[in-house]
Amino acid sequence: MEKALVRIENIHKWFGKVHALKGVNIKIWPGEIVGLVGDNGAGKSTLIKILAGVIRKDKGEIYWNEKKVDISSVDDSRKLGIETLFQEQSIIGILSIMRNVFLGREKIKSWGPMKILDNKNMGEESMKLIGQLGLNIASPNQEVRFCSGGEQQGVALSRAMYFKAKLVILDEPCRALGVKGVEQVSNFVKELRNKKIAVIFITHNLYNVYPVASRFVVLSRGEKTFDVQKKNTSFNELQVMMAKIPSRNNLLS
Ligand SMILES: Nc1ncnc2c1ncn2[C@@H]1O[C@H](COP(=O)(O)OP(=O)(O)OP(=O)(O)O)[C@@H](O)[C@H]1O
Ligand SMILES: [Mg+2]
Repeated sequence: MEKALVRIENIHKWFGKVHALKGVNIKIWPGEIVGLVGDNGAGKSTLIKILAGVIRKDKGEIYWNEKKVDISSVDDSRKLGIETLFQEQSIIGILSIMRNVFLGREKIKSWGPMKILDNKNMGEESMKLIGQLGLNIASPNQEVRFCSGGEQQGVALSRAMYFKAKLVILDEPCRALGVKGVEQVSNFVKELRNKKIAVIFITHNLYNVYPVASRFVVLSRGEKTFDVQKKNTSFNELQVMMAKIPSRNNLLS
């Protein structure tokens, strides 16, 4: 049987007295698109920040390809092949598209005795990726703050594609986007699926994720209350599950 790409086991997180994650177990398989849904404050962002190396778990284990790993920084997470687009922006507006794509992993070339940024190469690679995502942007030197919200998500996803992420985490990618932007995000996710990159798509708006995900995990007040293949559920059932408050007998492991 195929190995799970990532397996999180019995994850707990406390913020002072707030028990934000109460023993969550989730497996993600290679290439699958999982909708991680739940109400405000359910613990969705907390969970993925742990996977992204932004915060530390207080208890529990994370396995990557069934090997136990310790993710203690964003760098650790990226090295495994996890690319996260945070709810609180993961790109820098005043930098160009190309610099954002290669942020922290810039291409360098020799220029006489010196090492300099290889802007030509980074520019070409960025434009290739932007084109693959179906975006129509004239120059890799455009500052990202002048891109639309949907295009900005595309820039961040270009980075994931270039560095061959195995898992992309999108935290509320449709927030603050118009109809066109939401459609763009859904096309990006399909492109990631074509490339066999797994996606965790976080939202509390089921409409955004339902068409693209193949599986759904519902979090409620720090606990997993539903974990289901799309073929075994319905939009309505998911909505009901998202509104439900956990009780001892509807928790899943
Ligand atoms: N840094 C922090 N300090 C204190 N409490 C926090 C911190 N981060 C999150 N929390 C609390 O942990 C709980 C889970 O928050 P989290 O941001 O993970 O929810 P969420 O599911 O992402 O919600 P939303 O849909 O609103 O983004 C909430 O009660 C929140 O107030
Ligand atoms: Mg959140």
